[in-house]
Amino acid sequence: MVEREGTGGVARPLGSGGGVSMLDPAFMDLLCCPACRSGLVQPDESSLRCTACGESYVVRDGIPRFVPAENYASNFGLQWNLFRQTQLDSFSGQPISRRRFLSYTGWTEAELRGALVLDVGCGAGRFTEVALSLGARVVALDYSSAVDACRLNHQGAEGLSIVQADIYRLPLKDGVFDRAYCLGVLQHTPDVERAFRALPPVLKDGGALAVDIYPKLWTDVLWPKYWLRHATKHMKAERLFATVRTGVRWLWPVSLAVGRVPLVGRKLRYVIPIVNYEGVYPLSPEQLKDWAVLDTFDMLGPAFDQPQTAGSLEGWMRSSGLEGIEVFRSGFLVGRGRKAKAQPQK
Ligand SMILES: C[S@@+](CC[C@H](N)C(=O)[O-])C[C@H]1O[C@@H](n2cnc3c(N)ncnc32)[C@H](O)[C@@H]1O
Ligand SMILES: [Zn+2]
Repeated sequence: MVEREGTGGVARPLGSGGGVSMLDPAFMDLLCCPACRSGLVQPDESSLRCTACGESYVVRDGIPRFVPAENYASNFGLQWNLFRQTQLDSFSGQPISRRRFLSYTGWTEAELRGALVLDVGCGAGRFTEVALSLGARVVALDYSSAVDACRLNHQGAEGLSIVQADIYRLPLKDGVFDRAYCLGVLQHTPDVERAFRALPPVLKDGGALAVDIYPKLWTDVLWPKYWLRHATKHMKAERLFATVRTGVRWLWPVSLAVGRVPLVGRKLRYVIPIVNYEGVYPLSPEQLKDWAVLDTFDMLGPAFDQPQTAGSLEGWMRSSGLEGIEVFRSGFLVGRGRKAKAQPQK
């Protein structure tokens, strides 16, 4: 767990009326005890207490923490704190996250303005930034210390609250969000279906959900990523990170050369086990190398990497009571729909 000193620059929480010390009442209203689902009170700046079971939780740097400091997602904490800004559109100068967010969610600026939106597995907050820029009020949630990177990235942002929590034990009341999205996350959880099923309950009736997942492809067996992961997922994050940095330094010219082979280069470069976005995103040579280190680590480090089929995703969406379901491939496998409105009592 990355510890940071001081409370300066904590993103102003939802409702923005609160200072940096106590959590904003509007944010407190959304929270509940992940153990027994009862309400929480905040006796002081640095803790929350459950009104029913008495469990207490730490609040540090304005972020309530409902998980152990070390967990299976610690590699993500390291990567998002080391590459805190790399993939933010405001830093890269390219609308890469904005385009993915808009095309995957299908949501419009008019729908997002003033809406209460949950970002599940926010990482350093690249999509949080987009949702905020479109006028949403956002609760950004992550299991790892990526929440600290998210906080630093969005200092002073109006309408943002951050929480460190587990998708399997959400400290959020049912039926409170207008919208929720979960991008780049589900395949990295131990039980993808169960992680997906945790999402619809937090939505209001009629609330919209959008997720993406790695698609399960027969070609995955040819991809060295999945051979290497047998070893790399067990490596200590810091050691793997050093290895990836050295690997990218050596393999970068090779990957560039292979990728430039006419017609087949872009497919062929998958054989070189580093991520190369040349020709995919209009990034500078320096940015391409940073993205290569970040996403090669992101490819080799996670404890779980479990692609899914469109059929599975659609089945989970249907049986969770979603309506207006759309499932399609756009790089990732995307699923979106709405929570059915409750039928009026007869
Ligand atoms: C590949 S990153 C994606 C981050 C961000 N959504 C993005 O696309 O930049 C996956 C994130 O999922 C988070 N994550 C993994 N398991 C989780 C869980 N059980 N609950 C909440 N977040 C989780 C990780 O900590 C990590 O930050
Ligand atoms: Zn409780």
